[in-house]
Amino acid sequence: MILHRVSLAARLVAFFALLWLPRTAAAVAVRGTVEATSAEGQYLALAMTIDDTTTRFELTGPDYSWFAFGFDTTTMQGYSLIIEGLGDARSAVERNLVGIGNPGSPQALQNLNLLDATDDPDNALSMVVLERANNTGDANDPVFTPSMTSLDLIYAYDSFATVDSPNPTLSYHGRGGRGFLTITFAPVVPEPASLALLVLGSTVALLIGGRRRRGGGDCRMQNGGALNGLITRRSGTV
Ligand code: HEM
Repeated sequence: MILHRVSLAARLVAFFALLWLPRTAAAVAVRGTVEATSAEGQYLALAMTIDDTTTRFELTGPDYSWFAFGFDTTTMQGYSLIIEGLGDARSAVERNLVGIGNPGSPQALQNLNLLDATDDPDNALSMVVLERANNTGDANDPVFTPSMTSLDLIYAYDSFATVDSPNPTLSYHGRGGRGFLTITFAPVVPEPASLALLVLGSTVALLIGGRRRRGGGDCRMQNGGALNGLITRRSGTV
């Protein structure tokens, strides 16, 4: 009777786990994080999470200066995100850098959502969270996809600014205020899918356990004393 209940419960859990698994496993996303220390010793970081539809950027830089990251480039050129303002009062602008010394203009069509901006005055750092559609349809915006494995980046901030002499507005960074990075992406394992796998694993173990126990009972009835004795010696419990 108890075995019957266990097996029924196990089957129900297996049923729901199977229902749940395909949905969660379909959620494909990659994430990468990269950190930099400029020639002047300034810490900057970028994390990118790219799922099927959306790219999320978490940008960290000096809270006393504008700062920026440029994508898929190894020189001052192409698509970049410029964070202006100071502390947690920030704005974000898409801009296509034209070439060394020429930052171009803000794009006519801005496709960014600024989700959050925080300040960490103890470390003089700001963190800004942005989201953008992977494919904005704007010819000036690169398309990001979860099949990406890595991306060359550039970064910059005003290396002449200080906590006492801040600069919120894009300007020449100085030779010590710009640099080059590469971000590497790895798949994000969706939590619910791993949980579902765990549930599925335990369920299969339960089912096998239940079968064995029941199988043992049948054997004993069909094969009589000799086999019954064998089972008793092996498990010590039957
Ligand atoms: C008003 C804005 C800007 C001005 C006037 C400017 C100007 C310059 C100048 C004169 C150079 C050559 C000297 C040097 O290496 O420092 C340079 C190089 C560079 N800039 Fe900018 N820049 C601006 C914005 C940016 C931004 C927003 C970024 C990053 C997103 C950036 C990244 C770089 C990089 C990586 C180099 C080195 C390029 C190489 O060696 O190939 N710059 N910039």
